[in-house]
Amino acid sequence: MSHECLEVSVHEGGWAEIVLARPEVLNALNLKLVQEATQVLDELEHDERVRGLIFTGAGDKAFVAGADIGELLERRLAEALEGINARLLQKIEDFPWPTIAAIHGYALGGGCELALACDIRIGTTAAVLGQPEVRLGIIPGAGGPHRLTRTVGPGMARELIFTGRMVPAEEALRIGLLNHVVEPEELMPRAREIMTSIRRNGETAVRLAKVALNAAVNSVDRRHQMLEVLSQGILFEHPEKEERMRAFLERKRKREQDAR
Ligand code: COA
Repeated sequence: MSHECLEVSVHEGGWAEIVLARPEVLNALNLKLVQEATQVLDELEHDERVRGLIFTGAGDKAFVAGADIGELLERRLAEALEGINARLLQKIEDFPWPTIAAIHGYALGGGCELALACDIRIGTTAAVLGQPEVRLGIIPGAGGPHRLTRTVGPGMARELIFTGRMVPAEEALRIGLLNHVVEPEELMPRAREIMTSIRRNGETAVRLAKVALNAAVNSVDRRHQMLEVLSQGILFEHPEKEERMRAFLERKRKREQDAR
């Protein structure tokens, strides 16, 4: 399957591998990528060959460094209300078969939220996870507050979201944000090994186990989601967001000038 921002392949073991591929911007999630991923998930859900998904990032620096800040800068209340990133992540959580995030480098903002929407997270020793949105004057608006709380507990989720601190691999492992930490060359082999061991089991049993697990962890409540979307809509209109995002994007221009 050919796409602009994704590489999708079906593995003979019976799962699909989705590479998020905008390495020049650390695989930041722009609208095009989100639309393509949404369409791909719809197709894969009905593909008889696919009984699981592995997500990973292209290049050697990032899984996904968040939503695309250049696009975020332009977004306002109306775009927030559409909640398209939130809907994609809900689709990942609701995917009928197990999903694994294989993380090398940065998984920040929407990238960390995407990893949290997966069933299992594996990182390399170079993985760095976090929700730095408040530094840009916004919040994690695609299920982050809810899914992070349920993954690492309320105290740690609050600390990470309020400070925006980035968490290195070993700490992420200790707080339960990652299930395993491996050397970079072991990342995909380990993800495939876990998927293979899942595939040995009763297919319908695994599928129904996921239904039960999703119900048990109380999948993102639509009211919580609406609260996140509304808060994000308010912040998208706020001057502080504009200032902070411009400052991030200006760095590039400054660095170019300094290099001259
Ligand atoms: N959106 C758009 N572009 C992004 C991006 C994002 N979320 N994250 C990184 N990029 C771009 C950078 O602007 C840079 O582009 P350039 O080469 O054209 O200047 C390129 O990706 C490489 O990033 P750079 O910042 O130079 O790498 P670094 O190693 O110095 O820093 C990070 C890496 C992840 C610490 C830094 O890129 C960062 O803080 N990114 C934003 C993370 C974030 O706040 N995400 C949440 C968004 S809501």
